[in-house]
Amino acid sequence: MSNDLQIVSPNTKPKGRTELGDVTPHNIKQLKKLNSVVFPVSYNDKVTYYNDIVVGAVCCRIDQTEVARRLYIMTLGCLAPYRRLGIGTTMLEHVLKWCDKDGNIDNVYLHVQVSNEGAIGFYKGFGFEIIETKKQYYKHIEPADAHVLQKTLKNKKRDAC
Ligand SMILES: CC(C)(COP(=O)(O)OP(=O)(O)OC[C@H]1O[C@@H](n2cnc3c(N)ncnc32)[C@H](O)[C@@H]1OP(=O)(O)O)[C@@H](O)C(=O)NCCC(=O)NCCS
Repeated sequence: MSNDLQIVSPNTKPKGRTELGDVTPHNIKQLKKLNSVVFPVSYNDKVTYYNDIVVGAVCCRIDQTEVARRLYIMTLGCLAPYRRLGIGTTMLEHVLKWCDKDGNIDNVYLHVQVSNEGAIGFYKGFGFEIIETKKQYYKHIEPADAHVLQKTLKNKKRDAC
């Protein structure tokens, strides 16, 4: 019977077992593949090793609208003991090089807590500017307000002639 063709009408859902599992080194590639199929955005994630230990990670997505193609930095962070060693710089430079290679990104942007002076100083050093402050952006942390930091990119392929 197992080789029989099973016809499933819209009203008869096949019964199967559903379980939640953690992300592991074994399924991370499947997760990425699944995200690339399900979401209309592409991700550009990397981890950073320091002496073979994972100490930092960056996670971005492309926001494509009718008027602009933007790269949004969802998270970019480094474990506290490994800060000020250039690890954040390595990750942000990777993101900016990725944009350069893509050649069609209008700007890079992110949200940061208004109190996060370290991160604000870090991004300003790369030419990011505060373009907006959103009140009550964060739901579970204080202060809840967020700055939007943005860096405009000027090397888009379509601008070249
Ligand atoms: C922001 C963050 C990613 C910076 O990473 P990092 O590895 O420490 O950054 P770098 O060592 O590459 O620093 C490069 C430059 O940025 C500036 N900078 C970085 N951290 C700073 C801080 N806390 N205060 C002031 N300037 C800072 C400095 O100019 C620094 O150069 P210097 O060390 O030669 O003075 C890190 O502090 C972090 O993970 N913070 C928590 C997560 C976070 O807030 N992410 C931002 C929102 S996505």
